Amino acid sequence: MTEQTPTTAVATSILTTDRLTKSFGGVHAVNEASVTFLDGKINGLIGPNGSGKTTFFNCVTGMIKPDSGSVQLRGRDITRWAPHKIARAGLGRSFQLCRTFPRMTVLENMLVAVQPHTLGDYLGGSHAPSTVERARAMLARVGIDHLENAEARDLSYGQQKLLELGSTLMSDPPFVMLDEPAGGVNPSLIERIAVLIRELNDEGTTFLIVEHNMDLIMKLCDHIVVFDRGAPIATGTADVIQSDPRVLEAYLGV
Ligand SMILES: Nc1ncnc2c1ncn2[C@@H]1O[C@H](COP(=O)(O)OP(=O)(O)O)[C@@H](O)[C@H]1O
Ligand SMILES: [Mg+2]
Repeated sequence: MTEQTPTTAVATSILTTDRLTKSFGGVHAVNEASVTFLDGKINGLIGPNGSGKTTFFNCVTGMIKPDSGSVQLRGRDITRWAPHKIARAGLGRSFQLCRTFPRMTVLENMLVAVQPHTLGDYLGGSHAPSTVERARAMLARVGIDHLENAEARDLSYGQQKLLELGSTLMSDPPFVMLDEPAGGVNPSLIERIAVLIRELNDEGTTFLIVEHNMDLIMKLCDHIVVFDRGAPIATGTADVIQSDPRVLEAYLGV
């Protein structure tokens, strides 16, 4: 393989869908969506409420089965794979609504994310010290290391989102999909999340961020897909997206 300079390098796909479709009753939540997200980039998926972002996300990560169409992860067909198998293939994810274990401590939540062999192992404290150290380092990175002994249910919503992000990162996924990481999070924590995403991207992690917060997406993302009614209506850089009349219409009804 010949080495390419950044100016001539052609971005390759990390995730491609072909006519992906999922309906709920009569609602076409995702409607023949064919999109590509790029390896090594911070990708964004935006769209008005109800445009199918979460359903798309759930189809791609195996949480729900699409009705038709296909999903390729690095060129490999993962359509209808079980979520754990997709995770093992390198796709880490977070949820729009937090999924932490409310009665476990923050540190315990981080440790279960790396899948101890059995719950007994975990309760018996058999995690290698390095795993615990890594968990603490990750908590420091997301800014909640001072809360390691607090129960997750006692954290603010924003702190729980940070915990969920931290636990998603514990398995070092090369590709991370985040569903509304900034939803319900206060501005200073949003800034922290943005900085962290950029740092991790610099270190080689590819992101796909599903967000309602246009400012965050425009600031962070190299490559943006805009959904409306379950399908892409625009694709490109922030500049391209922001001046696209179809995007303005979908958001503002102008
Ligand atoms: N489990 C479900 N059952 C029925 N309708 C659903 C379900 N999930 C999503 N929908 C509908 O599908 C559409 C897309 O929803 P969603 O994917 O959550 O959009 P977004 O994440 O962009 O806000 C909406 O009309 C929503 O009401
Ligand atoms: Mg959603």
